Amino acid sequence: MGKGPWEEENPGVPRPTSPLFDATLLDEGDRRNVVDAYRYWTREAIVKDIDTRRHSLHIAIENFEHDANIGTVVRTANAFAVDTVHIVGRRRWNRRGAMVTDRYQHLMHHENVDDLLAWAIDNGLTIVAIDNTPGSVPLETAELPKSCLLLFGQEGPGVTEAARAGALMTCSIAQFGSTRSINAGVAAGIAMHAWIRQHADLSRAW
Ligand SMILES: C[S@@+](CC[C@H](N)C(=O)[O-])C[C@H]1O[C@@H](n2cnc3c(N)ncnc32)[C@H](O)[C@@H]1O
Repeated sequence: MGKGPWEEENPGVPRPTSPLFDATLLDEGDRRNVVDAYRYWTREAIVKDIDTRRHSLHIAIENFEHDANIGTVVRTANAFAVDTVHIVGRRRWNRRGAMVTDRYQHLMHHENVDDLLAWAIDNGLTIVAIDNTPGSVPLETAELPKSCLLLFGQEGPGVTEAARAGALMTCSIAQFGSTRSINAGVAAGIAMHAWIRQHADLSRAW
C-alpha cells in the first residue's frame, strides 16, 4: 500500500518544497492508509486540511464497560469528516479497530453523560440518541438536525437512561431478522451516513 520514496516514484520530478510535505516520508516512502491527495503530507497538514471541511456532525459513544467498537466508530467518523468523536466514561479504549485514523480525528473525553450534555448545549448541538428502545422513531424517515450530536450506547446496556433523557429524540434502525440489535460500530456507520445523505455537500467528497 502507498508509495515508495519520492525520487523512485517520480523520476526527474523535483522534490516538493512546500511545508505540507514531510521530509522523512519523501525520503523513505509513505505507506500510511491515507487518500492519495495526502500522500507524503505531514499529519498536521492533513488534519488542518480536513478541518476546512469538517461537518457540523459530532459522534458520542458511551464507554463504561470498555466497548470494543469505538475503533470502528472513529474510523468511520474520520471517513465522513466528522467534527469530533466524544468518548464518555472510561478514557481508555482499544485503538486497534481505528487503524490509525484516530491520528487525524479530533477526540474528546467526558467523565460522564452530564458533562457531555452540558458541552453539547454550550456548543449549540442537538443530541439525537441512536437505539432501538421503546419510543424511538425510525431513523429512515427522521429529519436529523444539521448541528447534530449522534449518541450511541454499548453492547449490552445500550444508551443509558441519562443520555436518552438529554436527547431531542431516539432514532432506531429498522431490523427485520431475529437479532435484538446490530453491532454498535455498524449502527454508527448507518446513522452517520443517514446524516451525510441529508446534509453533506456531495460535490466535496473524494
Ligand atoms: C448492541 S446494542 C445493545 C442494546 C440494545 N438496545 C439491545 O436491546 O440489545 C449497542 C448499541 O448499538 C446501537 N444499535 C444497535 N442496534 C440498533 C438499532 N437497530 N437501532 C438503533 N441503534 C442500534 C445503539 O447505539 C445501541 O446502544
